[in-house]
Amino acid sequence: MSFRTSPGTPASPPSPADYVEDVSPGGGVLPPRAWYAASDARSLSLNGRWDFRLSPAADTEDDSFAAEGYEPGGWAEVQVPGHWVMQGHGSPIYTNHLYPFPVDPPRVPAENPTGDHLRRFDLPPDWPADGGTVLRFDGVESCARVWLNGTDLGTFQGSRLPHEFAVGHLLRPDGNVLAVRVHQWSAGSYLEDQDQWWLPGIFRDVTLLHRPPGSALDFFVHASYDHREGLGTLRVDSDVDGRVLVPGLDIDVATGTPVTLPVLPWTAETPRLYDGELVTEGERVPLRIGFRTVELHDGLIKVNGTAVLFKGVNRHEWHPEKGRALDPETMLADVLLMKRHNINAVRTSHYPPHPAFLDLCDTYGLWVVDECDLETHGFTEQAWRDNPADDPRWTPALLDRAARTVERDKNHPSVVLWSLGNEAGTGRGLTAMAEWIRARDTSRLVHYEGDHDCRDTDVYSRMYTDHAEVERIGRHQDGGGLKRRRLPFILCEYGHAMGNGPGGLADYQRLFTSYDRLQGGFVWEWIDHGIADERHGFAYGGDFGEELHDGNFVCDGLLFPDRTPSPGLVEYKKVIEPVRVDGGDSFSPPGGRREAAAGWDGTVRVTNGYDFTDLSHLAFEWSYQVDGRSAGSGPLVVPALAPGETADVKLPAPPVDPRGAGARWTVRAVLADDTVWAPRGHVVAWTQLSVAEPAPPSVTASAPPVPGERVITLGPGTFDARTGALLAVGGVEVTGPRLDVWRAPTDNDNGAHWQSDARHGPLWRALGLHRMRHRPDAVEAGDDSLTVRTRVAPAARDVGLRTVYRWTSDGTRLRLTVSVTPEGRWTLPLPRLGVRLGLAASADRVTWLGGGPGEGYPDTGSACAYGLWESTVDALQTPYVRPQENGARPGVHRAEIGGLRIEGDPAFWFTARRWTTEQLDAAEHRADLLPGDTVWVNLDHGQQGIGSQSCGPGALPRYRLWPAPAEFSFVFSEITD
Ligand code: GAL
Repeated sequence: MSFRTSPGTPASPPSPADYVEDVSPGGGVLPPRAWYAASDARSLSLNGRWDFRLSPAADTEDDSFAAEGYEPGGWAEVQVPGHWVMQGHGSPIYTNHLYPFPVDPPRVPAENPTGDHLRRFDLPPDWPADGGTVLRFDGVESCARVWLNGTDLGTFQGSRLPHEFAVGHLLRPDGNVLAVRVHQWSAGSYLEDQDQWWLPGIFRDVTLLHRPPGSALDFFVHASYDHREGLGTLRVDSDVDGRVLVPGLDIDVATGTPVTLPVLPWTAETPRLYDGELVTEGERVPLRIGFRTVELHDGLIKVNGTAVLFKGVNRHEWHPEKGRALDPETMLADVLLMKRHNINAVRTSHYPPHPAFLDLCDTYGLWVVDECDLETHGFTEQAWRDNPADDPRWTPALLDRAARTVERDKNHPSVVLWSLGNEAGTGRGLTAMAEWIRARDTSRLVHYEGDHDCRDTDVYSRMYTDHAEVERIGRHQDGGGLKRRRLPFILCEYGHAMGNGPGGLADYQRLFTSYDRLQGGFVWEWIDHGIADERHGFAYGGDFGEELHDGNFVCDGLLFPDRTPSPGLVEYKKVIEPVRVDGGDSFSPPGGRREAAAGWDGTVRVTNGYDFTDLSHLAFEWSYQVDGRSAGSGPLVVPALAPGETADVKLPAPPVDPRGAGARWTVRAVLADDTVWAPRGHVVAWTQLSVAEPAPPSVTASAPPVPGERVITLGPGTFDARTGALLAVGGVEVTGPRLDVWRAPTDNDNGAHWQSDARHGPLWRALGLHRMRHRPDAVEAGDDSLTVRTRVAPAARDVGLRTVYRWTSDGTRLRLTVSVTPEGRWTLPLPRLGVRLGLAASADRVTWLGGGPGEGYPDTGSACAYGLWESTVDALQTPYVRPQENGARPGVHRAEIGGLRIEGDPAFWFTARRWTTEQLDAAEHRADLLPGDTVWVNLDHGQQGIGSQSCGPGALPRYRLWPAPAEFSFVFSEITD
């Protein structure tokens, strides 16, 4: 093994584990070929319980376990597919880009957890005696050596790729023993440095496939579509001659023969598949044919002649209990959730997914960027020196990975781009991969992000680029070489969905729809990779004692680990909705407050934002709400607009006169009929238009403050005479309210350590905003008001907020006006600006008139609809895996909680929880949050935006909350009705 010794050094004795550190892809496996789930040939799943033994190094145990007659006494059992570290043997390790072992390619550590697996099986009695049999592994991390009935079949690397062995000659009817030795670390690990858990094991299916004489080998379905003529051309090339049957199209031709005829094309919006068969002498293989043509034309990615806009997500395979061993139900759940949230594209970051997932993408309609299992990100630590992607010794392994990806997945119409991998620098190996792919498949484009000069790619792709640069790219003002300047642009990663956020998605979408060159993007990422854990709720990096880890950076998805949609997904659905309804409004702050322009005549403009379909599958409805309650609804007739078309549609006359209350139109586009991915009535798009805002609360200051010995009363309010703090409103006991500027920094507030821009979370903490001191300067009882003057400031700093609380009452209601004047030189925006108050723990139910039902912050609130909402305090919490600020409802005019009614002038952000912000800040896992005896309520005049600085840009300037003189009011009253 040439890399183990240097010239002149005596060779060490050959180790049984030499193949582990071999840079070549392995030996003994069959060439890659098209994958298909089932044909009329027999197959036998070897999934199930396997005998298992874990040893600490690659060669702790000899290979006698693979010999005939071995008895696995004392062995454990594991489930296959599965990862042994998810089944109580050893532990998962999470690193982002750092290799969790010394970088000395292709050497791996001596501590190399090695799992020996044994599976006994009998062939079914009617297993055919003729032909051959293939043993297929769909995914093993990271390196395997395989024996059948004592015969050494070979070894392989390439964790998320299929590998097959010819085994027919070794099989017997009964008592077969399959032995598989799996090493956690191998040379291949250097090529698999994706940001995710390191999870060894046989984590995808193991199957025996009978190969009858004359059965199919490899085949390539070429199915293009000529959009000008409406004609499809089908040609199935097959290594074994046969016939191609497509009954629905009356096709019965020899393999290799093209046939052109009228067809309906396949697109992600119209996933028309034709069932067919490849019939060879010995096998009938089902085909699912989608006619479509992908090309680069006029500098744009076009499918069937039309430029597409990717509204995508990056999907790692994840299940909180099973890791990357996904069952079919979970794959389907992902696809349905995507379709129901208006997502039309998936990048299979950063490896080919289980092939069944691509079948679902074909069926349900999703554009797929199919990425090869390649990432060498850790070499960035040494300025990419020794990067395998630029070292010819590794090129065969890279080409093997490219071939195994393309050959496996080439017959999926959903796959429109091949991606060489992720974050592997640049180099000769990548170029070789691109050349090989182009030669093998001319019907798709090649993607790779790490190549900003686009030497090897057909698309200019970047990640986390800020809005301003994306706009420059859209305008073709970004420079770059000639090749790049002519290419379309996608953001293969953006909107880092870690914790609360991502913010700024709507701002990106505005750019994508404004510039043709911008063909959309893929939010990072689909799901949090939290591991179900009794101690913590969900565990993340460091929770398994890893010596090197990247904490909760592994929890950055639009879904929580249990696949509950996070507010980020709800926001994304709204932002990318395929139908726009505008009412002449120019302003859309969060909280559903899109205001109709003055003089608006009730006409809405409907725009079809689909790329391929008209609007005939949608039904439109209007409704009219007064103070959040429906005052009428009905159908709205919208023409079946073609893609890109608009129509002006007049709403009916308002059903009632709102008489000083707030009034809004809501227009919704819903599915007119059941589809395979959602039922009739499913909301695809909606818009709200405000025609009248509720009148601000007014309180005539008429009650005088009445000083007592210890308390002052003012109307229903009881105040501490010394500090001026409110103690009760009528019978409702209250702590505070007092100024609050602190929020439990979100992952996006904290930012990633490599960010060069200001990262507000750490700066806020350094300034001391989490430990503000409140100094009461004066408590002044006037004729009709109580005024409390304070200064709020952190220790050690000269900055402060002079804060005046002015209380008035009409005898039954209490009005608080807070005036804030910043003092000193503030160099940072504030996290929040408002008041915090405490209520009894019995304050459980909340109703509010404002934005909901979910949370919303200045740059994340598009999906908040204005309404009259109801919740418990517990249900207001958004359960981010690492606790952080959450749960604000924006644009609230009125809230009721714990017997208290709170009205805002102006509308405010409402947050309530059973712990303090400080406790939320200190918590590291959900399980650390324990309810106290107070419900803490924040009423905020302002909130800092969220941004996505945990990997991307921070909150845009317009969403920052700079300290400035401010005045805002709340009216408190006890609910007596
Ligand atoms: C990207 C990378 C992803 C992930 C993301 C941050 O650089 O491609 O795999 O690490 O950053 O979550």
